[in-house]
Amino acid sequence: MKDQTLLPLYNKDKQSDLPHPPPQGSQDGASSAGTHAHARRVYIETYGCQMNVSDSELMAGILTQSGHQTVSHLDDADVVLVNTCAIRENAETKVINRLKHLNHRKRRHPELIIGVCGCMAQHLRDKLLDTAPYVDLVMGPDAYRNLPVALDSLARGVESHVSLTDRDPFLGLRLDKNEDYADIAPIRKEGIRAWLTIQRGCDKMCTFCIVPFVRGRERSLPLKLLVEDVEKLVDQGFKEVVLLGQTVNSYHDDSADFGDLLYAVGDVNGLERLRFTSPHPADATDSMIDAMASSPSVCKHLHLPLQSGSTEVLDRMRRTYTAEEYRSLVLKLRERIPDIALTTDIIVGFCGETDAEFMETYQMMADIRYDSAFMFKYSEREGTLAHKALPDDVPETVKGERLEQIIKLQESISADINSAAVGGTVPVLVEGESRRDADRYHGKTDGFKTAVFPKSDSGIGAVVNVRIDNTTAHTLIGQVV
Ligand code: 5AD
Repeated sequence: MKDQTLLPLYNKDKQSDLPHPPPQGSQDGASSAGTHAHARRVYIETYGCQMNVSDSELMAGILTQSGHQTVSHLDDADVVLVNTCAIRENAETKVINRLKHLNHRKRRHPELIIGVCGCMAQHLRDKLLDTAPYVDLVMGPDAYRNLPVALDSLARGVESHVSLTDRDPFLGLRLDKNEDYADIAPIRKEGIRAWLTIQRGCDKMCTFCIVPFVRGRERSLPLKLLVEDVEKLVDQGFKEVVLLGQTVNSYHDDSADFGDLLYAVGDVNGLERLRFTSPHPADATDSMIDAMASSPSVCKHLHLPLQSGSTEVLDRMRRTYTAEEYRSLVLKLRERIPDIALTTDIIVGFCGETDAEFMETYQMMADIRYDSAFMFKYSEREGTLAHKALPDDVPETVKGERLEQIIKLQESISADINSAAVGGTVPVLVEGESRRDADRYHGKTDGFKTAVFPKSDSGIGAVVNVRIDNTTAHTLIGQVV
C-alpha cells in the first residue's frame, strides 16, 4: 500500500506520478444499496492532491449509494473514472498519456466507459474531447451528484450498441457555489488517517493559480456536522484526521472560525491527532495559533505556503502579504509554539522574477529553515490572471537552475534539522509496515516526519516512543524504547 503522506493540497509532481490507490467501497461484492438496473463496476484512479483523494472517496460514496460498486482493479471494471489535477501543465500531460493508454484498452473492450473527472475536466472542458475523443464523460468537481445519471445514460448507449464514435459524451461542468456534498458519506480507504473536506473552492485569486476557476467559490461545511463526522471516524477506528480545504484556515460557519473548529474537533473523544492543510498565511489568525498551541490533539506542524520571498513577486502573485509580514508570522508562531515544524511551497521563475528577487526567496528559505518544502517551476495556466496580464518571461533554463539551487539548499537544511534529532526520543503514530522491510514499521511524528523502526509489540494505530539513532534528509531511523 502506498504511504499516504500529508502533502500540501497538491502533491509535488514526483508524488503524483503514481495515481493514489482507489477508494475501495463495496468492492468485489454486492453493493450495499442492492440491485440496480445498470449496476456498473467502477475503477477510480486519482491524480493530484489530497482534496482529490477525498473527492474520489466522495465519488465512491455517491456511486455505491446508487447501487454501483467500486472495484480495486482496472481489469474488473466496466467504467474507469480518472480524477485529475490541473495545477501545472505536467499534471495534465500525465493524464493525457494515461488516457491514451486507456484508449488502447477500450479498443479491445469497446464497452469500457472512460470518464475524466476533477480539475482538469473543468479546466479543459469540451476541448478535452478534441484531444481524447474516446472519452465518454467529462465531469468537474461540483457535478459528482450526476455520476449515477451519467453512468445510466452511457450504459444505455453501450447496451444499445451505438457505435463508439456516435455515442454522445456526458458533460457535467457546472460549478455550483452551494454544492458541499454535506449529505454524502464518503467511502474511505482503511488506515489510521482519514481526510475530511471542511471547505470547497477558493476565493483568493492568486494570479498564478487555476484552482478558483476549476473549483469555484469558497464554501465551508457546518461545524456541527464536521464534529459529528470526526466522531464517526473515531468510531470507525481512525486515529488521525486531516482537515482539508484550499485555504483551510479561512473556514467559517456563522461566528465560528477555523480556530473554533480546531478546538471543537480536537476535543472529540478518542481522536489521537488532528492536522490540516493547506492554510493561507494571510488567514493565520491568533485564534488558529491559540488552538494549535493549546489543543492537545492538534499537531504542531504547519504547512505555510510562502511561494516567494520577494514582496514585489508576492504582489504580482496577489498573495496579499509581504515578505516582512510572513517573517513576522513565523516569529510569532515560533514564540507561541517553540517546537513547531514548518513546511512550505515555493514557486520559482514566476513572471518577471529577477535574479535579485529569486535570491530573496533563497535567503528567506535559508533564514526560516523549513523542515521541508515543495518546490515548483512556474507553469502558466490558461485562464488565470497571470496568463491574461503577465508574460511568462523567465526562460525555462533559468527556472530549472533556480529550482535546483533551492532544492539543494532545502535538502541540506532538512538533513541538518533531522540529524539534530539523533539521540532524542519522539512519539510516533504507527501507520504500517515499511515498504522496504517487512520487519519494520513506519509512522509519523507529530511534526509529520517519517520514522522507521523495528516492529515491536505495539502495532498499527498505537503511539510509540522512538529513540532516533540515524537520519536522512527525509527519514528518522530508530528503535522503540
Ligand atoms: N505553477 C507552479 N506551481 C503552482 N502552484 C500553484 N499553481 C502553480 C503554477 N501555476 C503551486 C503553489 C501551490 C502548490 C499547491 O502548487 O506552490 O501552493
